[in-house]
Amino acid sequence: MRHLYSRFLQARPGILHMSPHSHYYWPDVTRDAHMAYWDDSAKHADNKWDVIFGERVPAVQRLIAERLQLSEPQQIVFAPNTHEFVYRLLSCFDASKPLRILTTDSEFHSFNRQSRRLLERGNVDLKVVPTEPFTTFAQRWRDEVAAATYELVFISQIFYNSGVAAPLPEQWLDALQSDDTVVVVDGYHGFGAVPTDWSPYQDRVFYLAGGYKYAQAGEGVCFAVVPVNCQLRPEYTGWFADFASLAHPQTGPVGYADDGYRMAGATMDFTALYRLEAVLELWQTEGLTDVRVNAYIRDLQAAFLTHIDSLEHQYLNRETLLQHDLTAHGHFFTFKLPSAEIVKTLAETLKQQGVATDYRYDRLRFGFALYQRTKDFQQIRG
Ligand SMILES: Cc1ncc(COP(=O)(O)O)c(C=O)c1O
Repeated sequence: MRHLYSRFLQARPGILHMSPHSHYYWPDVTRDAHMAYWDDSAKHADNKWDVIFGERVPAVQRLIAERLQLSEPQQIVFAPNTHEFVYRLLSCFDASKPLRILTTDSEFHSFNRQSRRLLERGNVDLKVVPTEPFTTFAQRWRDEVAAATYELVFISQIFYNSGVAAPLPEQWLDALQSDDTVVVVDGYHGFGAVPTDWSPYQDRVFYLAGGYKYAQAGEGVCFAVVPVNCQLRPEYTGWFADFASLAHPQTGPVGYADDGYRMAGATMDFTALYRLEAVLELWQTEGLTDVRVNAYIRDLQAAFLTHIDSLEHQYLNRETLLQHDLTAHGHFFTFKLPSAEIVKTLAETLKQQGVATDYRYDRLRFGFALYQRTKDFQQIRG
């Protein structure tokens, strides 16, 4: 599959890129797509929004809906980053009233910061469930879901700091104490990576994902699947959230679109959306279904582990590998080492061997991508 990524590979010769879980290489088709946004802007000028909202957005909504097996593409809404959706969702709750949030200790940085900052309001209760030990997490999470009534439940599909898959909503949704609880799954490490059928949840659970990891489209585009019949009225709202009323007098109560766009913000650069469309189309023309992509990555992961075994490395081994069940794992491996210094030194050594990884504190991550081959791992000498 390397031919699909020839430009990024040529631009970085000799490098074994093992941090696609951070920033995936962009396939060649995204370059023309990137320029197509420029050309459409030139051709349509002020009228480009007709093209974007009349053609490009519906096309990408359709392609994402097909990938996630959703029947209502109009429930998908775009924003420049996931954090924007997080804050928009939080703004649905009256700041003067108590807000109870259930989450884990392994949510992405912006969610972590944002929720901890909200604690300063004094009326926010944040229940944080540790993901480790992984073997008991599903039960512990379900118990906490059942233990109280929450305004917001927020959990990843795949945890960013381990690659371990979280229990799917089918394992805990029925334990919720209230039908009004807003339930959000952060699928950033799931979409484009592990097979995901979101149809059982499309009426109930928000799903967030975005462009710069496995969707291979770069930064600037992320999306939310908004549950059908959602009636939430985010306080943090912009002009994209109610196109139907644009021509009406803008007075009185603020209205919202009936579809996913009620969760939209305002003007954004849609270049990344054009790139995302090109990637999603590429997946279709190349037959890169989520099942096929996942199978290819599983083979890479098995070859990687065999190679690591052969190194008999003090730190890189199956003992330090954080995992629960490799068949229900994301597309990167995380090694938890004795200290942040050891991680940094090892990452530096790997860099000198031309192996690009990434690390957070005491965790070293190796990601897998369609542009890797099993033989490439020989480059890792540890
Ligand atoms: C789990 C998860 N969610 C979301 C994001 C992206 O967040 P944002 O789009 O707000 O930068 C990341 C990026 O690392 C992530 O790991």
